[in-house]
Amino acid sequence: MLSAVPAREVDAIIRLMGAFRDDPRPDKIDLGVGVWRDALGRTPVMRAVRAAERRLVEAQTTKTYTALAGEPAFHAALARLLLGEGHAADRLAAAATPGGTGAVRQILELVRLADPGATVWISDPTWPNHPAILATLGLPTRTYRYLDRASGGLDREGFLADLGRARRGDVVLLHGACHNPSGIDPDPGLWEELAAVLLATGAVPFVDMAYQGFGAGLDADAAGLRLLARRLPEVLVAASCSKNFGLYRERVGLALALCAEAATRGRVAATLAWLNRQNFAFPPDHGARVVTDILADPVLRADWEDELAAMRAGMDANRRAFALALREASRSDRFGHLAAGRGMFALLGLAPAEVEGLRARHAIYMVGDSRVNIAGLTAATIPVVASAVARVAAEG
Ligand code: LMR
Repeated sequence: MLSAVPAREVDAIIRLMGAFRDDPRPDKIDLGVGVWRDALGRTPVMRAVRAAERRLVEAQTTKTYTALAGEPAFHAALARLLLGEGHAADRLAAAATPGGTGAVRQILELVRLADPGATVWISDPTWPNHPAILATLGLPTRTYRYLDRASGGLDREGFLADLGRARRGDVVLLHGACHNPSGIDPDPGLWEELAAVLLATGAVPFVDMAYQGFGAGLDADAAGLRLLARRLPEVLVAASCSKNFGLYRERVGLALALCAEAATRGRVAATLAWLNRQNFAFPPDHGARVVTDILADPVLRADWEDELAAMRAGMDANRRAFALALREASRSDRFGHLAAGRGMFALLGLAPAEVEGLRARHAIYMVGDSRVNIAGLTAATIPVVASAVARVAAEG
């Protein structure tokens, strides 16, 4: 039987992690998977997380099961972080999930239950796991124009024109902040225009929020999502605490569905819980409890926000220094678009062969579409990477 298992390959990001690990060159540089790193290249446990974990270990008296959808206190704390104070809690159905990817999967399963024929629109480009999950679920998928590859900025006209073609009940998958892989986000005016297009078409936004706090700040990064939640009857959200709490391996995520009427909420919440039961039964609890405690405790929360702000400042500084180093090394403005991006990622605009050249000849690892993890750079590696990129780009 098992000999009939079809060959499957994981996506380029995961393949790259393995290739980097197996590379024996001591000076190798990892700009692949989206993991925050400090100036020494480490990914430390955040201070508030460590403090909350210590308390939890002391205070916890049982490890028995939680609810199928996770703890209501976690739902409420994260919903407030995402949607702000005063959101329509009576219309909100939620379920804790294993990480943000788990939330993406559960929300798309919910969509399939509601309407297996719904088309899900994804940005060009997007995170490779979006189309992979959609293909596995067999949901019809279309792409909308997003990145203008010539300028490295957002293709506003293409974006609005393509989404104007969505039909009532289609789902539009959006990146809440720090678009992965481009780092290019809609500005406030474009979020407004998008909300109007979605209202006119009747398509439902699905916001994947994996980097809240990495762009311009916790509230600023959620402004687009909050606008959609105020304007539109239905909004779907997948949230991740991997990056902003540094809880990668603990798998902390939340699936949220804002329903048009409070009367629908109970059925949608029960369905999300049922989907959890189907796929893994109970969601991981430890990390969700740590997040809940940090958000509820003013001292822990202030410390977490401070550390997050420092991480954000570090990425901003890396981005500016890298853009400058690239300009000097290439003696051109070819990489000038980097400065307009936010968060962890930027697309250099290199061809796959050039990306491969960087790996083979310079031991520099980035995803094949030339996505770099800005947080993976350090003061020491910025000039090294910039000169290698300029050399490879000049060779063509
Ligand atoms: C990334 O895009 O590198 C991160 O979101 C990690 C992942 O799971 O792919």
